[in-house]
Amino acid sequence: MGRTIFLLISVVLVAYYVYIPLPDAIEEPWKLVWQNTLPKIATDLASFVELLGINHLMDTIQLLITFQEVPPTSDENVTVMETTFDSVPVRIYIPKRKSTTLRRGLFFIHGGGWCLGSAASYIYDTLSRWTAHKLDAVVVSTDYGLAPKYHFPRQFEDVYRSLRWFLQEDILEKYGVDPRRVGVSGDSAGGNLAAAVTQQLLQDPDIKIKLKVQVLIYPALQALDMNVPSLQEGAHFPLLTRSLMVRFWSEYFTTDKDLEKAMLLNQHVPMEFSHLLQLVNWSSLLPERYKKGHFYKNPSPGSSELAQKYPGFIDVKACPLLANDNILHHLPLTYIITCQYDVLRDDGLMYVKRLQNAGVHVTHHHIEDGFHGAFTLFGLKIANRMQNQYLNWLIKNL
Ligand SMILES: *[C@@H]1O[C@H](CO)[C@@H](O)[C@H](O)[C@H]1NC(C)=O
Ligand SMILES: *[C@@H]1O[C@H](CO)[C@@H](O)[C@H](O)[C@H]1NC(C)=O
Repeated sequence: MGRTIFLLISVVLVAYYVYIPLPDAIEEPWKLVWQNTLPKIATDLASFVELLGINHLMDTIQLLITFQEVPPTSDENVTVMETTFDSVPVRIYIPKRKSTTLRRGLFFIHGGGWCLGSAASYIYDTLSRWTAHKLDAVVVSTDYGLAPKYHFPRQFEDVYRSLRWFLQEDILEKYGVDPRRVGVSGDSAGGNLAAAVTQQLLQDPDIKIKLKVQVLIYPALQALDMNVPSLQEGAHFPLLTRSLMVRFWSEYFTTDKDLEKAMLLNQHVPMEFSHLLQLVNWSSLLPERYKKGHFYKNPSPGSSELAQKYPGFIDVKACPLLANDNILHHLPLTYIITCQYDVLRDDGLMYVKRLQNAGVHVTHHHIEDGFHGAFTLFGLKIANRMQNQYLNWLIKNL
Protein backbone atom coordinates (compact mmCIF):
# COMPACT_ATOMS: atom_id res chain seq x y z
CA MET A 1 0.00 0.00 0.00
CA GLY A 2 2.69 2.45 1.08
CA ARG A 3 4.76 1.61 -1.97
CA THR A 4 1.82 2.13 -4.32
CA ILE A 5 1.15 5.58 -2.89
CA PHE A 6 4.83 6.44 -3.09
CA LEU A 7 4.93 5.30 -6.71
CA LEU A 8 1.79 7.25 -7.52
CA ILE A 9 3.16 10.44 -5.96
CA SER A 10 6.45 9.99 -7.81
CA VAL A 11 4.69 9.58 -11.14
CA VAL A 12 2.57 12.69 -10.54
CA LEU A 13 5.63 14.71 -9.48
CA VAL A 14 7.71 13.61 -12.45
CA ALA A 15 4.81 14.33 -14.82
CA TYR A 16 4.36 17.75 -13.25
CA TYR A 17 7.99 18.71 -13.57
CA VAL A 18 8.49 17.27 -17.01
CA TYR A 19 5.29 18.63 -18.45
CA ILE A 20 5.68 22.07 -19.92
CA PRO A 21 3.41 22.93 -22.83
CA LEU A 22 6.17 23.66 -25.32
CA PRO A 23 5.38 25.19 -28.69
CA ASP A 24 6.16 22.82 -31.59
CA ALA A 25 8.72 25.20 -33.03
CA ILE A 26 11.16 24.68 -30.16
CA GLU A 27 14.06 22.38 -31.02
CA GLU A 28 15.66 19.92 -28.60
CA PRO A 29 12.57 20.00 -26.35
CA TRP A 30 13.94 17.34 -24.01
CA LYS A 31 17.06 19.30 -23.29
CA LEU A 32 14.91 22.31 -22.52
CA VAL A 33 12.62 20.27 -20.26
CA TRP A 34 15.70 19.10 -18.41
CA GLN A 35 17.07 22.65 -18.14
CA ASN A 36 13.67 23.89 -16.99
CA THR A 37 13.24 21.27 -14.28
CA LEU A 38 15.79 22.52 -11.77
CA PRO A 39 14.61 26.15 -11.89
CA LYS A 40 11.02 24.91 -11.58
CA ILE A 41 11.82 22.79 -8.52
CA ALA A 42 13.85 25.64 -7.01
CA THR A 43 11.01 28.13 -7.56
CA ASP A 44 8.39 25.79 -6.10
CA LEU A 45 10.55 25.02 -3.12
CA ALA A 46 11.21 28.74 -2.59
CA SER A 47 7.48 29.52 -2.93
CA PHE A 48 6.71 26.91 -0.30
CA VAL A 49 9.35 28.29 2.05
CA GLU A 50 7.89 31.76 1.52
CA LEU A 51 4.36 30.50 2.15
CA LEU A 52 5.53 29.17 5.50
CA GLY A 53 6.81 32.66 6.25
CA ILE A 54 10.40 31.47 6.61
CA ASN A 55 12.22 33.31 3.84
CA HIS A 56 11.58 35.66 0.95
CA LEU A 57 11.09 33.85 -2.38
CA MET A 58 13.98 35.59 -4.15
CA ASP A 59 16.39 35.14 -1.22
CA THR A 60 15.84 31.39 -1.32
CA ILE A 61 16.28 31.16 -5.10
CA GLN A 62 19.39 33.34 -4.92
CA LEU A 63 20.79 31.10 -2.19
CA LEU A 64 20.27 28.05 -4.43
CA ILE A 65 21.84 29.86 -7.39
CA THR A 66 24.90 30.80 -5.36
CA PHE A 67 26.03 27.19 -5.69
CA GLN A 68 26.50 27.82 -9.41
CA GLU A 69 29.00 30.61 -8.83
CA VAL A 70 32.59 30.10 -9.95
CA PRO A 71 35.77 31.83 -8.76
CA PRO A 72 37.57 34.36 -11.00
CA THR A 73 40.00 31.90 -12.53
CA SER A 74 42.27 32.84 -15.42
CA ASP A 75 42.73 30.29 -18.22
CA GLU A 76 45.18 29.91 -21.10
CA ASN A 77 43.39 32.62 -23.14
CA VAL A 78 41.92 35.10 -20.69
CA THR A 79 43.08 36.80 -17.50
CA VAL A 80 40.21 37.15 -15.04
CA MET A 81 40.28 39.50 -12.07
CA GLU A 82 37.93 41.07 -9.61
CA THR A 83 38.00 44.65 -8.43
CA THR A 84 35.58 47.48 -7.70
CA PHE A 85 34.55 50.39 -9.91
CA ASP A 86 33.53 53.26 -7.63
CA SER A 87 32.86 50.64 -4.93
CA VAL A 88 30.70 48.45 -7.20
CA PRO A 89 32.17 44.93 -7.57
CA VAL A 90 33.13 43.96 -11.13
CA ARG A 91 34.80 41.00 -12.82
CA ILE A 92 37.19 41.86 -15.65
CA TYR A 93 38.21 39.59 -18.54
CA ILE A 94 41.34 40.52 -20.50
CA PRO A 95 42.58 38.47 -23.46
CA LYS A 96 46.10 37.11 -22.94
CA ARG A 97 47.21 37.22 -26.56
CA LYS A 98 49.45 40.17 -27.42
CA SER A 99 47.79 43.15 -29.03
CA THR A 100 49.57 45.97 -30.81
CA THR A 101 46.48 48.18 -30.76
CA LEU A 102 43.95 49.16 -28.14
CA ARG A 103 41.10 46.71 -27.67
CA ARG A 104 37.35 46.94 -27.78
CA GLY A 105 35.64 47.28 -24.40
CA LEU A 106 32.34 45.62 -23.56
CA PHE A 107 30.50 46.50 -20.36
CA PHE A 108 28.19 43.57 -19.54
CA ILE A 109 25.20 43.57 -17.17
CA HIS A 110 23.80 40.21 -16.05
CA GLY A 111 20.10 39.36 -15.87
CA GLY A 112 18.01 37.77 -13.12
CA GLY A 113 14.98 40.02 -12.66
CA TRP A 114 16.89 42.61 -10.54
CA CYS A 115 16.78 39.94 -7.78
CA LEU A 116 19.05 37.10 -8.87
CA GLY A 117 22.40 36.23 -10.39
CA SER A 118 25.86 37.77 -10.37
CA ALA A 119 28.89 38.21 -12.56
CA ALA A 120 30.22 35.09 -10.84
CA SER A 121 27.30 32.88 -11.97
CA TYR A 122 28.64 30.05 -14.10
CA ILE A 123 26.65 31.11 -17.17
CA TYR A 124 27.76 34.75 -17.02
CA ASP A 125 31.36 33.91 -16.25
CA THR A 126 31.41 31.50 -19.20
CA LEU A 127 29.78 34.04 -21.52
CA SER A 128 32.13 36.89 -20.56
CA ARG A 129 35.22 34.69 -20.85
CA TRP A 130 34.08 33.47 -24.29
CA THR A 131 33.24 37.00 -25.47
CA ALA A 132 36.59 38.41 -24.32
CA HIS A 133 38.48 35.65 -26.13
CA LYS A 134 36.46 35.53 -29.36
CA LEU A 135 36.02 39.29 -29.75
CA ASP A 136 39.51 40.09 -28.46
CA ALA A 137 37.85 42.58 -26.13
CA VAL A 138 38.15 43.66 -22.52
CA VAL A 139 34.89 42.58 -20.91
CA VAL A 140 33.76 44.19 -17.66
CA SER A 141 30.96 42.22 -16.04
CA THR A 142 29.39 44.31 -13.31
CA ASP A 143 27.47 43.38 -10.20
CA TYR A 144 24.80 45.51 -8.55
CA GLY A 145 22.63 45.45 -5.43
CA LEU A 146 19.75 42.97 -5.72
CA ALA A 147 16.16 42.97 -4.49
CA PRO A 148 14.65 42.36 -2.01
CA LYS A 149 17.59 43.78 -0.04
CA TYR A 150 17.84 46.75 -2.41
CA HIS A 151 15.08 48.19 -4.53
CA PHE A 152 15.02 50.64 -7.42
CA PRO A 153 16.93 52.89 -8.02
CA ARG A 154 19.80 51.04 -6.34
CA GLN A 155 20.28 48.54 -9.21
CA PHE A 156 20.29 51.33 -11.79
CA GLU A 157 22.60 53.53 -9.74
CA ASP A 158 25.14 50.79 -9.05
CA VAL A 159 25.38 49.94 -12.74
CA TYR A 160 25.57 53.59 -13.71
CA ARG A 161 28.35 54.31 -11.20
CA SER A 162 30.31 51.33 -12.39
CA LEU A 163 29.91 52.28 -16.07
CA ARG A 164 30.88 55.91 -15.42
CA TRP A 165 33.99 54.72 -13.68
CA PHE A 166 34.92 52.52 -16.63
CA LEU A 167 34.39 55.38 -19.08
CA GLN A 168 37.17 57.51 -17.60
CA GLU A 169 40.09 57.99 -19.96
CA ASP A 170 42.74 56.83 -17.50
CA ILE A 171 40.75 53.72 -16.58
CA LEU A 172 40.24 52.73 -20.21
CA GLU A 173 43.92 53.33 -20.81
CA LYS A 174 44.87 51.20 -17.83
CA TYR A 175 43.00 48.23 -19.34
CA GLY A 176 44.14 48.92 -22.90
CA VAL A 177 40.67 49.85 -24.17
CA ASP A 178 40.06 52.06 -27.20
CA PRO A 179 37.73 54.88 -26.03
CA ARG A 180 36.09 54.92 -29.48
CA ARG A 181 35.10 51.26 -29.25
CA VAL A 182 33.18 50.80 -26.02
CA GLY A 183 29.75 49.17 -25.87
CA VAL A 184 27.24 47.99 -23.31
CA SER A 185 25.37 44.73 -23.34
CA GLY A 186 22.93 42.91 -21.06
CA ASP A 187 20.29 40.21 -21.03
CA SER A 188 16.79 40.40 -19.56
CA ALA A 189 16.93 42.66 -16.47
CA GLY A 190 20.53 43.35 -17.54
CA GLY A 191 19.15 44.49 -20.90
CA ASN A 192 16.78 46.77 -19.02
CA LEU A 193 19.69 48.28 -17.09
CA ALA A 194 21.81 48.53 -20.26
CA ALA A 195 19.06 50.48 -22.05
CA ALA A 196 18.49 52.70 -19.01
CA VAL A 197 22.14 53.64 -18.43
CA THR A 198 22.72 54.21 -22.14
CA GLN A 199 19.89 56.78 -22.11
CA GLN A 200 21.20 58.33 -18.91
CA LEU A 201 24.71 58.80 -20.33
CA LEU A 202 23.31 61.03 -23.07
CA GLN A 203 22.22 63.49 -20.41
CA ASP A 204 25.46 63.45 -18.46
CA PRO A 205 27.69 66.40 -19.44
CA ASP A 206 30.61 65.02 -17.41
CA ILE A 207 31.03 61.98 -19.63
CA LYS A 208 33.04 62.76 -22.71
CA ILE A 209 33.36 59.24 -24.03
CA LYS A 210 30.44 58.06 -26.12
CA LEU A 211 29.24 54.49 -26.35
CA LYS A 212 29.61 52.98 -29.79
CA VAL A 213 26.88 50.35 -29.43
CA GLN A 214 24.24 49.03 -27.06
CA VAL A 215 23.16 45.39 -27.13
CA LEU A 216 19.85 44.42 -25.57
CA ILE A 217 19.18 40.69 -25.27
CA TYR A 218 15.46 40.11 -24.63
CA PRO A 219 15.30 43.20 -22.42
CA ALA A 220 12.49 44.22 -20.04
CA LEU A 221 11.60 47.78 -21.00
CA GLN A 222 8.30 48.79 -19.44
CA ALA A 223 6.22 48.07 -16.33
CA LEU A 224 3.10 50.02 -17.33
CA ASP A 225 1.15 47.51 -19.38
CA MET A 226 1.22 43.98 -18.02
CA ASN A 227 -1.17 42.84 -20.75
CA VAL A 228 0.85 43.33 -23.91
CA PRO A 229 0.17 40.30 -26.15
CA SER A 230 3.37 38.43 -25.23
CA LEU A 231 2.56 38.77 -21.51
CA GLN A 232 -0.99 37.59 -22.18
CA GLU A 233 0.31 34.61 -24.14
CA GLY A 234 3.03 33.81 -21.64
CA ALA A 235 1.17 32.17 -18.77
CA HIS A 236 3.16 28.97 -19.43
CA PHE A 237 6.19 30.01 -21.44
CA PRO A 238 9.35 28.09 -20.51
CA LEU A 239 11.62 29.59 -17.84
CA LEU A 240 9.76 32.91 -17.48
CA THR A 241 5.99 33.10 -17.05
CA ARG A 242 3.80 36.18 -16.78
CA SER A 243 3.31 35.76 -13.04
CA LEU A 244 7.04 35.42 -12.39
CA MET A 245 7.76 38.47 -14.57
CA VAL A 246 5.19 40.53 -12.66
CA ARG A 247 6.78 39.36 -9.43
CA PHE A 248 10.22 40.47 -10.67
CA TRP A 249 8.91 43.86 -11.75
CA SER A 250 7.08 44.57 -8.52
CA GLU A 251 10.01 43.30 -6.50
CA TYR A 252 12.28 45.76 -8.30
CA PHE A 253 10.24 48.55 -6.69
CA THR A 254 9.02 47.10 -3.42
CA THR A 255 8.26 43.95 -1.47
CA ASP A 256 4.79 45.39 -0.71
CA LYS A 257 2.36 42.84 -2.13
CA ASP A 258 -0.15 45.55 -3.07
CA LEU A 259 1.92 46.57 -6.07
CA GLU A 260 2.24 42.99 -7.30
CA LYS A 261 -1.53 42.48 -6.98
CA ALA A 262 -2.30 45.69 -8.86
CA MET A 263 0.21 44.78 -11.60
CA LEU A 264 -1.28 41.31 -12.02
CA LEU A 265 -4.65 42.98 -12.63
CA ASN A 266 -2.95 45.57 -14.86
CA GLN A 267 -4.46 48.22 -12.65
CA HIS A 268 -1.50 50.14 -11.31
CA VAL A 269 -1.04 53.25 -13.48
CA PRO A 270 -3.09 56.10 -11.95
CA MET A 271 -5.17 58.44 -14.08
CA GLU A 272 -2.71 61.34 -13.78
CA PHE A 273 -0.04 59.24 -15.53
CA SER A 274 -2.27 57.67 -18.16
CA HIS A 275 -0.67 59.87 -20.83
CA LEU A 276 2.45 57.70 -20.48
CA LEU A 277 0.51 54.71 -21.79
CA GLN A 278 0.78 55.94 -25.34
CA LEU A 279 4.56 55.36 -25.15
CA VAL A 280 3.95 51.65 -24.57
CA ASN A 281 0.79 51.29 -26.67
CA TRP A 282 1.21 47.92 -28.35
CA SER A 283 -1.80 48.58 -30.53
CA SER A 284 0.13 51.26 -32.40
CA LEU A 285 3.71 49.99 -31.88
CA LEU A 286 3.57 46.27 -32.68
CA PRO A 287 3.74 44.82 -36.20
CA GLU A 288 0.40 43.33 -37.32
CA ARG A 289 1.40 39.69 -36.89
CA TYR A 290 1.92 40.04 -33.14
CA LYS A 291 -1.43 41.74 -32.57
CA LYS A 292 -3.44 38.91 -34.09
CA GLY A 293 -6.13 37.61 -31.75
CA HIS A 294 -5.63 40.43 -29.27
CA PHE A 295 -7.79 43.49 -28.68
CA TYR A 296 -6.30 46.60 -27.18
CA LYS A 297 -7.90 47.65 -23.94
CA ASN A 298 -6.71 50.71 -22.03
CA PRO A 299 -5.39 49.50 -18.65
CA SER A 300 -7.78 50.43 -15.82
CA PRO A 301 -6.58 53.34 -13.66
CA GLY A 302 -4.78 52.42 -10.46
CA SER A 303 -4.42 54.06 -7.08
CA SER A 304 -2.51 57.35 -6.88
CA GLU A 305 -1.28 56.39 -3.45
CA LEU A 306 0.54 53.32 -4.77
CA ALA A 307 2.28 55.38 -7.46
CA GLN A 308 3.29 57.99 -4.89
CA LYS A 309 4.78 55.34 -2.65
CA TYR A 310 6.59 53.50 -5.47
CA PRO A 311 7.15 55.97 -8.29
CA GLY A 312 9.77 53.68 -9.82
CA PHE A 313 7.35 51.94 -12.15
CA ILE A 314 6.64 55.18 -13.98
CA ASP A 315 10.30 56.25 -13.98
CA VAL A 316 12.20 56.21 -17.26
CA LYS A 317 15.25 54.86 -15.40
CA ALA A 318 13.27 51.66 -14.82
CA CYS A 319 11.23 51.78 -18.02
CA PRO A 320 13.38 52.90 -20.95
CA LEU A 321 10.33 52.83 -23.25
CA LEU A 322 9.12 55.96 -21.46
CA ALA A 323 11.91 58.10 -22.91
CA ASN A 324 10.80 60.70 -25.38
CA ASP A 325 11.98 60.81 -28.98
CA ASN A 326 14.48 63.64 -28.37
CA ILE A 327 16.43 61.33 -26.09
CA LEU A 328 15.99 58.20 -28.19
CA HIS A 329 17.21 60.06 -31.25
CA HIS A 330 20.73 60.32 -29.79
CA LEU A 331 21.15 56.67 -28.89
CA PRO A 332 24.05 54.73 -30.39
CA LEU A 333 23.85 51.87 -32.88
CA THR A 334 21.63 49.25 -31.30
CA TYR A 335 21.33 45.46 -31.48
CA ILE A 336 18.14 43.95 -30.08
CA ILE A 337 17.32 40.25 -29.74
CA THR A 338 13.70 39.22 -29.23
CA CYS A 339 12.28 35.70 -28.89
CA GLN A 340 8.90 34.49 -30.08
CA TYR A 341 7.99 32.54 -26.92
CA ASP A 342 9.07 35.17 -24.40
CA VAL A 343 6.85 37.36 -22.23
CA LEU A 344 9.30 40.22 -22.90
CA ARG A 345 9.04 39.86 -26.67
CA ASP A 346 6.75 42.86 -27.12
CA ASP A 347 8.87 45.16 -24.95
CA GLY A 348 11.73 44.52 -27.37
CA LEU A 349 9.55 44.85 -30.47
CA MET A 350 8.12 48.16 -29.27
CA TYR A 351 11.57 49.54 -28.52
CA VAL A 352 12.77 48.54 -31.99
CA LYS A 353 9.85 50.47 -33.46
CA ARG A 354 10.32 53.52 -31.25
CA LEU A 355 14.07 53.66 -31.93
CA GLN A 356 13.52 53.32 -35.68
CA ASN A 357 10.90 56.07 -35.55
CA ALA A 358 13.44 58.26 -33.77
CA GLY A 359 16.04 57.60 -36.48
CA VAL A 360 18.33 55.23 -34.57
CA HIS A 361 20.12 52.47 -36.49
CA VAL A 362 18.82 49.19 -35.14
CA THR A 363 19.74 45.61 -35.98
CA HIS A 364 16.89 43.43 -34.84
CA HIS A 365 17.16 39.65 -34.61
CA HIS A 366 13.90 37.93 -33.87
CA ILE A 367 14.39 34.28 -32.94
CA GLU A 368 11.34 32.41 -34.22
CA ASP A 369 11.94 29.34 -32.06
CA GLY A 370 13.42 31.35 -29.19
CA PHE A 371 12.33 31.67 -25.58
CA HIS A 372 13.49 33.65 -22.57
CA GLY A 373 16.87 32.57 -21.25
CA ALA A 374 17.83 30.69 -24.42
CA PHE A 375 20.91 32.87 -24.94
CA THR A 376 22.69 31.44 -21.90
CA LEU A 377 21.51 27.82 -22.04
CA PHE A 378 24.94 26.43 -22.87
CA GLY A 379 24.70 23.01 -24.48
CA LEU A 380 21.57 23.86 -26.47
CA LYS A 381 21.95 24.52 -30.20
CA ILE A 382 19.79 27.60 -29.94
CA ALA A 383 22.18 29.23 -27.45
CA ASN A 384 25.07 28.50 -29.76
CA ARG A 385 23.28 30.04 -32.70
CA MET A 386 22.26 33.17 -30.80
CA GLN A 387 25.72 33.67 -29.31
CA ASN A 388 27.39 33.36 -32.69
CA GLN A 389 25.03 35.94 -34.21
CA TYR A 390 25.80 38.22 -31.27
CA LEU A 391 29.54 37.73 -31.69
CA ASN A 392 29.44 38.34 -35.44
CA TRP A 393 27.45 41.51 -34.95
CA LEU A 394 29.93 42.77 -32.33
CA ILE A 395 32.91 41.93 -34.57
CA LYS A 396 31.39 44.03 -37.34
CA ASN A 397 30.02 46.90 -35.31
CA LEU A 398 32.02 47.45 -32.13
C1 LIG B 1 41.80 28.88 -25.83
O1 LIG B 1 41.68 29.19 -27.20
C2 LIG B 1 41.85 28.09 -28.07
C3 LIG B 1 41.78 28.64 -29.49
O2 LIG B 1 40.64 29.42 -29.68
C4 LIG B 1 40.81 27.04 -27.79
O3 LIG B 1 40.99 25.92 -28.65
C5 LIG B 1 40.87 26.62 -26.33
O4 LIG B 1 39.85 25.71 -26.04
C6 LIG B 1 40.76 27.84 -25.43
N1 LIG B 1 40.92 27.47 -24.06
C7 LIG B 1 39.98 27.62 -23.13
C8 LIG B 1 40.31 27.19 -21.75
O5 LIG B 1 38.89 28.09 -23.38
C1 LIG C 1 -3.64 52.99 -28.23
O1 LIG C 1 -3.76 52.97 -29.63
C2 LIG C 1 -5.08 52.72 -30.11
C3 LIG C 1 -5.05 52.76 -31.61
O2 LIG C 1 -3.99 52.05 -32.16
C4 LIG C 1 -6.05 53.74 -29.55
O3 LIG C 1 -7.37 53.40 -29.92
C5 LIG C 1 -5.95 53.82 -28.02
O4 LIG C 1 -6.75 54.86 -27.54
C6 LIG C 1 -4.51 54.07 -27.62
N1 LIG C 1 -4.44 54.07 -26.18
C7 LIG C 1 -3.56 54.81 -25.48
C8 LIG C 1 -3.64 54.73 -24.02
O5 LIG C 1 -2.70 55.49 -26.03
